[in-house]
Amino acid sequence: MKFTYLQPKFIFFIFFTTFNFSVYSQQKVVEQRINQLLSKMTLEEKVGMIHANSSFTSAGVARLGIPELVMSDGPHGVRPEHGRDWNMSNDHVNDAGTYLPTGNALAATWNPKLGYEFGSVLGSEANARGKDVILGPGINIIRTPLNGRNFEYLSEDPFLISKMAVGYIKGVQDQGVSASLKHFIANNQETDRTAVNVEMSERALREIYLPGFKAAVIEGGVNTVMGAYNKFRGQWATHNYYLVNKILKGEWGFEGFLMSDWGAVHHTNEALYNGTDLEMGTDLAMLPKPNYGKFFMGDTVVTLVNAGKVPIPLIDDKVRRILRVMFKTGMMDKSRKPGKFATKEHQQTALKIAEEAIVLLKNKDQVLPLNASKIKNIAVIGTNATKLNAMGGGSSQVKPTYEITPLMGIENYMGSKAKVTFAKGYEVAKDATANQKLVDEAVKIASTADQVVFVGGWVHGYDFSKWDDNAFDAEGIDKKDLKLPFGQAELIKALLKVKPNLIIMMMGGGPVEMNSWIDDAKVVIEGWYPGMEGGNALANVIFGKVNPSGKLPMTFPKKLEDSPAHKLGDYPGVNGTAVYHEDIFVGYRYFDTYKVEPQFAFGHGLSYTKFKYDKMEVVATDKKATISLSITNTGKIDGAEVVQFYVHQDQPKLPRPEKELKAFQKVFLKAGETQNVEIELDKTAFHYYDDQSFNWVVDGGKYQILVGSSSRDIRQQVLVEFKP
Ligand code: GLC
Repeated sequence: MKFTYLQPKFIFFIFFTTFNFSVYSQQKVVEQRINQLLSKMTLEEKVGMIHANSSFTSAGVARLGIPELVMSDGPHGVRPEHGRDWNMSNDHVNDAGTYLPTGNALAATWNPKLGYEFGSVLGSEANARGKDVILGPGINIIRTPLNGRNFEYLSEDPFLISKMAVGYIKGVQDQGVSASLKHFIANNQETDRTAVNVEMSERALREIYLPGFKAAVIEGGVNTVMGAYNKFRGQWATHNYYLVNKILKGEWGFEGFLMSDWGAVHHTNEALYNGTDLEMGTDLAMLPKPNYGKFFMGDTVVTLVNAGKVPIPLIDDKVRRILRVMFKTGMMDKSRKPGKFATKEHQQTALKIAEEAIVLLKNKDQVLPLNASKIKNIAVIGTNATKLNAMGGGSSQVKPTYEITPLMGIENYMGSKAKVTFAKGYEVAKDATANQKLVDEAVKIASTADQVVFVGGWVHGYDFSKWDDNAFDAEGIDKKDLKLPFGQAELIKALLKVKPNLIIMMMGGGPVEMNSWIDDAKVVIEGWYPGMEGGNALANVIFGKVNPSGKLPMTFPKKLEDSPAHKLGDYPGVNGTAVYHEDIFVGYRYFDTYKVEPQFAFGHGLSYTKFKYDKMEVVATDKKATISLSITNTGKIDGAEVVQFYVHQDQPKLPRPEKELKAFQKVFLKAGETQNVEIELDKTAFHYYDDQSFNWVVDGGKYQILVGSSSRDIRQQVLVEFKP
């Protein structure tokens, strides 16, 4: 073939090389500009940049054009203003913005494109509020269903976390704002979070707890990472030589900066030598006039350097990393495009995510979707139907422009077409049990209604100071068990007696024990904390305007004791140490391998239509396996299916989970439509970490590739074999 310079391959080669060269040369220019700034900075100015100078800022160097670095929580919306040192009431400040669905709701969409859209909204709003860093995503593994912050996190599965976190981070950072990946690592409980020492095997570390962070750094290009409060293998995570220097900055080549969680630094030299670049946190004891020079990475460091005990290049590297992020996000050249705040399109994105997050767990006799035209009187029961959640949960709180509760959503949907009645049904108060008066009142209005919707679950709410408002899903506290609080189970049973078609909607950050009523229930929905448009999303699903497509990002156990962290592992720890004895068998990896029946499986979620899986084929080489199959919507309603691909190894040399998620694809199909789904699994989809040889290994031998609608609803499978 005659070689021409117009050949597409050649044009691509030229473009690719030119593009890469221009990126490389831009980075070279930035590094040179950083060198120049460092050469002009005094030691005091450098040290001033590596610790906080207010509750959510770190110092710049005005004379050199280096601005302060401004940060804000949180993972699902920009936190209300509280002044440089928590000393400002924000009533007069216009900081009411977009309250997105929380982390595990986003993960329940299994839609990486929504991850990006979520991040774009968050980054744009942070930018509009003058923030340079938004402190999210939180991606700690959901190891125990009791963890108070599971609502902020994503999943029990590292692959699903990876896919959702990468999109989120790119969405935020494409707005010119830095994301902050947290909490690095093993902050999987709130009990004793600032002191617990976590111990785990190298396999558990490499196969379960690191992959989400690794993907966020390498694929997502996250600019900043936040160290966790806890210890890891005996050393504080936020200045842990192995985690930070060896893995994050060594193996992964992370070039951004690692900040501590607030007050997580405990030791000057360890922080300096083990990779902490920025110490954050206000010692509230110092308020109202905190002296930020007293930080571990404050004035002491100047003294140590001047005494020749700490080399200045160690400090320079920290400042370099911070400046690198400042250049990358347009802070030095004032080149960042303006953000948008509290806009209609942001609210519509919140609605779309909430609609795709809702998981239809059970729909016996096809009770749903409801036909609104046939309903003249609908009763809504449960305090959660009117509960506002945005400001709950701790540091991830958001002051929303508005928040549509489930009751408001149903009222909005029904309008004047039907009478909507409400009864609270239970009291949200410490140790509250079933209140017979409230139960009777609820049963009374339910008995005369055409349709009844119960809204219950966990609560976190509005006012830090009140117990009930941060009782279950919040920072600093774990649930004590999975039992539905406030006597809700008794109420559900009473309602089911008069209304077998009762719709049961659970809100909150994760599973509850359902075994006392689940067999009598026909309809169960998981609504999570669905954000400011959550009520409208829930109404759109139950009335069929939206066909649910959410899938569980974590296992719902029948009872707490069935969960691996409680069956095999230490929780919350013994004498201050939590050994993760369950090892790699987290979530469905445990339930499926140890043959424990869950209430609802990882990846489970029903639709109002049905999907047929057909014609699965595989083409395998010694480098990869290409799997294709057809998916047909065999029903009369358009819908979306999350096609999940799991790998199982026959006769592994080391213990391996019965199956592991290695790919998924969300396909949107019109009624009757068929689409071909094709995915590629490279060798990493089959490997495991051998902690004898400290290597990733792919054994020769047979593997099953299982494809299904959930981890326990496998529809087709094919065998692939790799030569040893
Ligand atoms: C908190 C949280 C962290 C948050 C930070 C700032 O303690 O652990 O997620 O971003 O402090 O509020």
